[in-house]
Amino acid sequence: MSDKASASSPSSARSTAGAPASVNQAAPAPDMPSSVDSDTHAMRLAMAWALQALWLSNPNPRVGCVLTAANGSVIASGFTQAAGGPHAEAMALRQATERGLSTVGATAFVTLEPCSHVGRTPPCCDALIESGIKRVVIGALDPNPQVAGQGLARMRNAGIEVSHGLLANESRWLNVGFFSRMLRQRPWVRLKMAASSDGVTALPNGNSQWITSEQARADGLAFRARSCAVLTGAGTVLADNPRLNVRGFSLQRHPHLVVVDSRLQTPPDAKLMNPTQPVRDVWLYHSGIAGLEVQAGLSEAGAQLRAMGNAAGKVDLAALFADLAQREVNEVHVEAGSALNGSLLREGLVDEVVLYFAPTLLGQGLGLSSFGPLTELVQGIDMDFAAPSLIGPDVRLQALVRGADSFLNTPLYTHT
Ligand SMILES: NC(=O)c1ccc[n+]([C@@H]2O[C@H](COP(=O)([O-])OP(=O)(O)OC[C@H]3O[C@@H](n4cnc5c(N)ncnc54)[C@H](OP(=O)(O)O)[C@@H]3O)[C@@H](O)[C@H]2O)c1
Repeated sequence: MSDKASASSPSSARSTAGAPASVNQAAPAPDMPSSVDSDTHAMRLAMAWALQALWLSNPNPRVGCVLTAANGSVIASGFTQAAGGPHAEAMALRQATERGLSTVGATAFVTLEPCSHVGRTPPCCDALIESGIKRVVIGALDPNPQVAGQGLARMRNAGIEVSHGLLANESRWLNVGFFSRMLRQRPWVRLKMAASSDGVTALPNGNSQWITSEQARADGLAFRARSCAVLTGAGTVLADNPRLNVRGFSLQRHPHLVVVDSRLQTPPDAKLMNPTQPVRDVWLYHSGIAGLEVQAGLSEAGAQLRAMGNAAGKVDLAALFADLAQREVNEVHVEAGSALNGSLLREGLVDEVVLYFAPTLLGQGLGLSSFGPLTELVQGIDMDFAAPSLIGPDVRLQALVRGADSFLNTPLYTHT
């Protein structure tokens, strides 16, 4: 089965409306059936376990593993834990041991190629080889150049029957940020915006809290929770003094915070600097024009400063994202005003948009994004919608910027 072929074929990861919709909720842990009736059934179960890592495994990929005996009975399952903790395969092997069940001659279904390198944990392919597993069915190949088919090759060399490509697209979409970081050296950028039905995000006097409902805001928090970093602009910090943290979730890790602030106008006592916040880094990207005293005050308040200016004296956004990738950021969740949203869209740096529209009309005010003015309709940024959802009284629209996901079709290793 070819990984490349399955990447370009239609997949159930695509919604009825055409575009894939990123999930923001980990479903309840799946029931463990006593047996599976097909490879696809087993891999679906492994995918359901992978989803359990949605808020947990960053910056590591979300991976699930199911072990079955030759007669199809389920031996064990697992999913990747917080960074530094065991991967899905190790969790499943550990559970098999705890249950006193043998893995000799068993089949492992793993949603992503088992790793072959020593990272924060030992290589999973070695653990599978040592366990006496006879067959390994892989979802997607790992785009990490440190793995690059070596996990697969090492298991084959050890006499294990290995195939790949089953539900590969689902696995890639669950890990779209990890694939983006590995293949494009930049994170996947998801732009979240909330507006009235006529597209107003803030009144002319700056009032914007709250246009959408509590339910929509909670739904938005879940998108924050799955990201590695939340990003905003100086304008929003000055207007709203937001915390931009994740509340109401029991998270082992919290997304870092990025502020795009050329002149370092963020006050050192801004709420987002609060040291009592859950553990996260605050990264302020600036253009280098602010005085040393201002810089020292913000560093003292706990922020990490990075000078990255462009010719216009603003922050160089493309360089910022390349830097975030170096910091192991897979997915960026943007909650900014129309100025920064506009720059990100104009520079082609947005991959996915999540829009909440409230059932109210507000007339004049700030819009969703200020780029342009365009002179021709064809100059617009085309997107593909996923199926809309009603969240409380509001409508949520998810859209993929057309072509943003093309990197997912990169053929990874021709020798497999
Ligand atoms: N409804 C929503 O979804 C939502 C979400 C967030 C915010 N808001 C509202 O949006 C309003 C603030 O919007 P805003 O447009 O003034 O602020 P913003 O977009 O949050 O921040 C814009 C600022 O970012 C800085 N910046 C640095 N480099 C940049 C670059 N390359 N491109 C663009 N900006 C860059 C600029 O300030 P410097 O030159 O000083 O760096 C710029 O003024 C507030 O009223 C807030 O309530 C609404």
